[in-house]
Amino acid sequence: MRSSANAHLHSPPMTVTVPLGERQYEILIGAGVLSEAGMRLGSLLGDRALAIISNPTVFDLYGRTLRRSLVRAGFRPIHYLMGDGERYKTLRTVEAIHRHLAAHRLDRSSAIIAFGGGVVGDVAGFVAATFMRGIAYVQLPTTLLAAIDSSIGGKTGVNLPEGKNLVGAFYQPRLVITDVRLLRSLPTRELKAGLYEAIKYGVIADAELFDFIRLMLRTDDLLDESNLTTLIARCCRIKAAVVAADERESGYRQILNYGHTFGHALEALTHYRRFKHGEAVAHGMIIAARLAVELGLMDREAAESVESLVRSVGRLPPIADLDARAWLSAMQYDKKVRRKKPTYILPTTIGAVKMVTDIPTRLVTRTLARYIQGR
Ligand code: NAD
Ligand code: GLY
Repeated sequence: MRSSANAHLHSPPMTVTVPLGERQYEILIGAGVLSEAGMRLGSLLGDRALAIISNPTVFDLYGRTLRRSLVRAGFRPIHYLMGDGERYKTLRTVEAIHRHLAAHRLDRSSAIIAFGGGVVGDVAGFVAATFMRGIAYVQLPTTLLAAIDSSIGGKTGVNLPEGKNLVGAFYQPRLVITDVRLLRSLPTRELKAGLYEAIKYGVIADAELFDFIRLMLRTDDLLDESNLTTLIARCCRIKAAVVAADERESGYRQILNYGHTFGHALEALTHYRRFKHGEAVAHGMIIAARLAVELGLMDREAAESVESLVRSVGRLPPIADLDARAWLSAMQYDKKVRRKKPTYILPTTIGAVKMVTDIPTRLVTRTLARYIQGR
């Protein structure tokens, strides 16, 4: 990785492979690559019937560019625009899309394009996994979070009133195309929410990436296309390696949940209204680093550099009104809790983490309480 976050003016596309045997696929990342989508899909999918699944926000901005590219390559895509927002990530939306596809006579040889952020990607991926018992799909992520996380690795699904992501399937896309230019229209808060997840990759696996993000944050243009291309490719490389080692999360893939045990609980505790997912994870990453120090797993200086990088992204929504015990008890409902014991992903240094299950409740409560009090 180059050491400066401002070294190139021109950014050639980068490719990352997700090595999953016969289900292996490529992630193409670059500026302007959306207009190549038709050509890329033509060689991958031949003359299949295509359905674009998106939402009005994304489709109004970029639908024409995508359609033009697909039509130029000989496709005649239909599209379905779902509602914008997490509240539309439901079985009801999935059924509406299934019926739309059926009404337009799509069949087993058809394919789906997921064109949007993580909400669209999770829903469209689940539709692809279930329509006609599974049809091909590709991901065209349009948020930073989707580019570095949700569009890769094959987790698809929807929420139930009882909880987030409770219905789903592991179902890998055939290709991922990320056009970094599309991130220009992303609200700053969404961009920053994605940056926290990028920091997560640095802490769990890549000290150079961690330093790169630090440099990137010092530049005055967070949207520099070359930097974004490098950042996304580096994150995708880490996720691809983790997914290849443990596709169905029997163990190792849990390292991607650094900051998430605390973060998910924080989101639930505040009824999914106060925090963007990445912001809740940001709080979680700081707490996990502090806990690692308490347990003698990480030195204080390294934990402080995690905290300082997270804080340099921007001001996080407050937590001072929260109660440590309520926070801890919300953690018991996390999907990943095994036999009532949360698994904590704790950093040991910048670039490595450890899974720990048996942490005394008292210690966790104390760490949370201090954090809430701003100490
Ligand atoms: P999102 O999909 O809700 O997108 C955020 C907002 O940005 C939306 O309003 C969207 O319309 C808008 N938007 C998208 N692209 C835009 C663009 N280029 N310009 C302007 N606006 C744009 O949120 P998200 O953070 O991308 O995804 C969150 C979802 O991802 C959650 O449902 C979460 O559970 C899921 N997720 C899934 C995985 C996985 O592995 N499958 C991993 C992490 C998160
Ligand atoms: N976002 C965590 C995972 O894909 O496993």
